[in-house]
Amino acid sequence: MILKFLPCLAFLLFAQTAVAQLAIIPEPVSIVNKTGHFKPGKQISISANTERAEVQHIARLLSNKLAHAGLNSSVSSNAHTATINLILHSAPDKNLGKEGYQLKVIPLQGISISANEAAGLFYGIQTLLQLLPEQVETKDGLKNQPVSIPAVEITDYPRFSWRGLMFDVSRHFFTKQEVKDFIDQMVKYKYNLLHLHLTDDEGWRLEIKSLPKLTSVGAWRVNKTGSFGTFSVPDEKEPKDYGGFYTQDDIRELVQYAKERYVNILPEIDVPGHSLAAIASYPELSCTPGAENYRVRSGEKIMEWPPKGHFYGLLDNTLCPANEKVYEFLDKVFTEVAQLFPFEYIHMGGDETARNFWEKTPAIKELMKNEQLSNLDEVQSYFVKRVGKILKSKGKKLIGWDEILEGGLAPDAAVMSWRGMKGGIEAAKAGHEVIMSPSTFAYLDYMQGDKIAEPPVYASLRLNKTYQFDPLPEGVDPKLIKGGQANVWTEQIYNTRHLQYMLWPRGFAIAESVWSPKEKKEWKLFVPKVETHFKRLDAAGIKYAPSIYDPSFSAAKNTNNEWLVTLAAEIDGLTIHYSFDNSFPDQYYPQYSAPLVIPKDAKLMRVVTYRNGKQAGRILSIPVEDLKTRKAI
Ligand code: ACM
Repeated sequence: MILKFLPCLAFLLFAQTAVAQLAIIPEPVSIVNKTGHFKPGKQISISANTERAEVQHIARLLSNKLAHAGLNSSVSSNAHTATINLILHSAPDKNLGKEGYQLKVIPLQGISISANEAAGLFYGIQTLLQLLPEQVETKDGLKNQPVSIPAVEITDYPRFSWRGLMFDVSRHFFTKQEVKDFIDQMVKYKYNLLHLHLTDDEGWRLEIKSLPKLTSVGAWRVNKTGSFGTFSVPDEKEPKDYGGFYTQDDIRELVQYAKERYVNILPEIDVPGHSLAAIASYPELSCTPGAENYRVRSGEKIMEWPPKGHFYGLLDNTLCPANEKVYEFLDKVFTEVAQLFPFEYIHMGGDETARNFWEKTPAIKELMKNEQLSNLDEVQSYFVKRVGKILKSKGKKLIGWDEILEGGLAPDAAVMSWRGMKGGIEAAKAGHEVIMSPSTFAYLDYMQGDKIAEPPVYASLRLNKTYQFDPLPEGVDPKLIKGGQANVWTEQIYNTRHLQYMLWPRGFAIAESVWSPKEKKEWKLFVPKVETHFKRLDAAGIKYAPSIYDPSFSAAKNTNNEWLVTLAAEIDGLTIHYSFDNSFPDQYYPQYSAPLVIPKDAKLMRVVTYRNGKQAGRILSIPVEDLKTRKAI
């Protein structure tokens, strides 16, 4: 009897293993595991059923990727002998839409990727690459290794059409090559929109030919290192040698590079606030005279951030809504921006405008009288509407941060909701198109673990919270929620290695939130995939945060007036070990199992996590006084 069922059991076990092996991020709509593997052999041939240039280009991108990993491949037109067939449907498969694909890996036969549009083929290839071992990410990594691809049938298409990442290249400058590297990383996870935050107080990064000072002055500042936001005020004698900008040729190259990878670039010119780099270049754009006070910010304090209400500028970093020269300036800027970026939207920022200088400006009072504006929200709204008219005259649609809703918004403007989801909900209810990028789920500049372990930023956002991001709230018209986006602000990100650290693995979580069907998202299945992708990032030489291996802490007094500390691991399978005697814990130290009373005289708690006898997390050392400030989350 048992013998009779053995083959069945063996099959089931095999099928289970096959399921466990696949670690595709973002999770596809449907995966049907099949028996066996396809082994491509020494010479891979890639073929397409069309001569369309973009499909041939996709075939070459794949061939180049395989060549980098040490696999010989050629692009041929003979579909019969092809190892990898790219098939463009002549009659569209309605399920797949514009970006969907079907991928089949058939033992002894080969691989086919079919799609309605070239974009779908491109995404099918990203999935195929994730079926290959991680060495595909390493130079010559697969050269002497027989490759075996699990048999499978995958049908896949995105939940949202806007799958964005915002990259702040203003606070710190990143080169054209670093932006291309960013694009290369994002497309592996099927992101299709790169929002470039091109201007801010700390630098204007885009050549505007009719306004040369924006980059000769506005792109450069005094270099400071340490904790951004707390820097000393730069001395006039210090050299302004930190910065850079993209020439218009650079931008054309980036736009083309992105297009070939099915990424649109959304440019952001952040006005009327966050405009110190522009004002340092052209001080007459400010409401407040005093050209000598304006400088590109190096990270010194220029603003008060009240817990509620509006920001209070210590320096006027806003463009003056009552000054016609500002609109002439913006017309020039947006004329060139519109020519450079083919994407239908231009982002005008609109966030965090300090109005305390506007309150004191006679020209603003006059504007309010003439235009019958009853408060400063309406002044900002007047400004946003004027910008909207300028953009419309260039054939573009306006999008801005959710502050643009305040005081009234033109009906055809789109809103990017960052102060939670509520601005997006309000905007959708008023009929605006919305992109959800709430700081509560999608701000990748926030710390990924306890602040003792992470470079300090003012807020935390762990992977599991990021994974809970759902761009579509209940009760709004789904057609108006175009998608979601994660934002990587770079005040505290000085270099590309740290940029990667902040981006991964949370970028995986957002990718699933914007691509995968909601019902396919599951934390317990996601975590092992994250760990598989850590290996892929290792192979590619890309940094990531290991913060999921570090516990979180909370402390509170018990009824005996003793301090209790509660530790929580973010993922399953870890043991947490600790000490209060200043020594370094390992797996032989006491294992945490329930809230601990902090010994009365202890000064320091150290903790570390282990898995299967191996250290998993970093040793974290928290002074007890600091521990007592950790609130239960
Ligand atoms: C923002 O984070 N100020 C949009």
